[in-house]
Amino acid sequence: MSLDPRRLRADFPQLARCVHGKRLVYLDSAASAQKPRAVLDAMDEAYRHHYANVHRGVYTIAEEATAAFEDARATVAGFVGAPPEELVFTRNATEAINLVAHAYGRSRLRPGDVVVVTEMEHHANIVPWHQLAAERGVTVRWARLDGDYRLDLEHLAACLDGAALLAVTAMSNVLGTVNDVPRLVALARTAGAAVLVDASQAVPHFPVDVQAWGADFVAFTGHKMLGPSGIGCLWARRELLEAMPPFLGGGEMIRDVTRDTFTCNEVPWKFEAGTPPIVEAIGLGAAARYLAELGMDAVAAHERALTAYALERIEARLGGRLRVFGPHGVEGRGGVISVAFDGIHAHDVSQVLDEDAVCVRAGHHCAKPLMRVLGVPATARASFSVYNDTDDVDALVAALERAERFFAP
Ligand code: ALA
Repeated sequence: MSLDPRRLRADFPQLARCVHGKRLVYLDSAASAQKPRAVLDAMDEAYRHHYANVHRGVYTIAEEATAAFEDARATVAGFVGAPPEELVFTRNATEAINLVAHAYGRSRLRPGDVVVVTEMEHHANIVPWHQLAAERGVTVRWARLDGDYRLDLEHLAACLDGAALLAVTAMSNVLGTVNDVPRLVALARTAGAAVLVDASQAVPHFPVDVQAWGADFVAFTGHKMLGPSGIGCLWARRELLEAMPPFLGGGEMIRDVTRDTFTCNEVPWKFEAGTPPIVEAIGLGAAARYLAELGMDAVAAHERALTAYALERIEARLGGRLRVFGPHGVEGRGGVISVAFDGIHAHDVSQVLDEDAVCVRAGHHCAKPLMRVLGVPATARASFSVYNDTDDVDALVAALERAERFFAP
C-alpha cells in the first residue's frame, strides 16, 4: 500500500501554517519530525483524564496512568520487535547511549580495551566514548568511509581486530547512508566485540527488528519518529540489562533501600530512576501506532521514491554547481540530502530558503569529525518524512536556485 502524503498532511496541524505568507515546506525531520493529531490527542487525553504518577498510587487514575504507560512500552517494543521488559525508556537516544557507556562501559571495559566508532557518527555516539577513554583508558578507533560515503568494510574489519565494542549508526544523519546492520554485527562477532546501534534515523524510516539485527544495544529517540521530545529508548538483551549495574539512582529503580545499601528493581525499571516521562511515553506509543498503521514498508518505499526524485531534480537543475554528500543512487540510502555550494555558507543558504518557507537544517549536524572528512564546515540538509511530497522537493530545488542567484558574484 502506498502513502498519500497530501492526505497525511492533514493529520499534522503545524503543516497547515504559513511562514512569510507561503506554505510551510518542512524538510527537517532528521532534526525533529512534526507531530500528528493522534499523538497530540493521546497526550492531551492523558493529561486531562488519566494523569497521575505511575507505579506508585493504588487509586484508580494512578492505575490508569500506569496501565497507559506500560501499554505504550509494549507498543513501542512491539514496533521494533522487542519484548517490553527489554525496552528502557530514557529521555532521548543520547541518554540511551550514555546509559550504555556508564552502566556497561564502566563495568565491562578495561584500560586498553578498544571501542570502534565510524566517521559517520553523531556526537552522541562519540563523546560518551571519549569520556570513557579519559576516565578508563579505553581506546577509540575510527572506521573510515569509502569513496561513495559508505563504510569501508575492510577497514572496519581491521579496526575491529581485538575490539571490545562497535558503536555504529544504522543511518547517517548527514549522508543518509544506511548501514547493513546484520553484516556489521557479523563482523563484530567474528572479532568478539559487542555492538551498540544508534537507530535514531532508522526507526522512523524503515522497518527495524532489533532481534533480527542481532546487536546488543539499540538506541533511538521519540521525537524523530513523530512522537514528542523528552522520550527515547534503549533496547538491550535481557541478560545484559540484568547483569549491568544501574545508571542513575533514585526512586523506582530500587527493590529495597537500607541505611547502608540498596537492591535493584527488575528490568527495565532498574534503569528508570525517578518519575519517568509519563505522558511523553504515551505520546510515543501513539506515534508508533500511527507509523505501524501506515506500514513501515510503505513509509520506506515512499521516502525512497522521494529521495530518488530529489536527487534527480538536484542533478538536473544544479548538477555540477551543488555538491551532494551521500551515496550515489538510493540503494542503501535514506531520505537525507546534504548539500553545499562552493563559497556560500550553509547558514546563508538556509536563511534564503527560509524566505520561501523551506525549512532545512544547516550546520555541522552534530557530526564535526564527519565535516572534517568531507572538508566543509557545514552543509545544508533536507530530510524527509511521511508527509513530504514532490511539491516539497520542487520548492526546495527552486529555493536552492534562488539562493545560488542571490549569492552570485
Ligand atoms: N541529531 C539531530 C539532527 O541530525 C538533531 O539534526
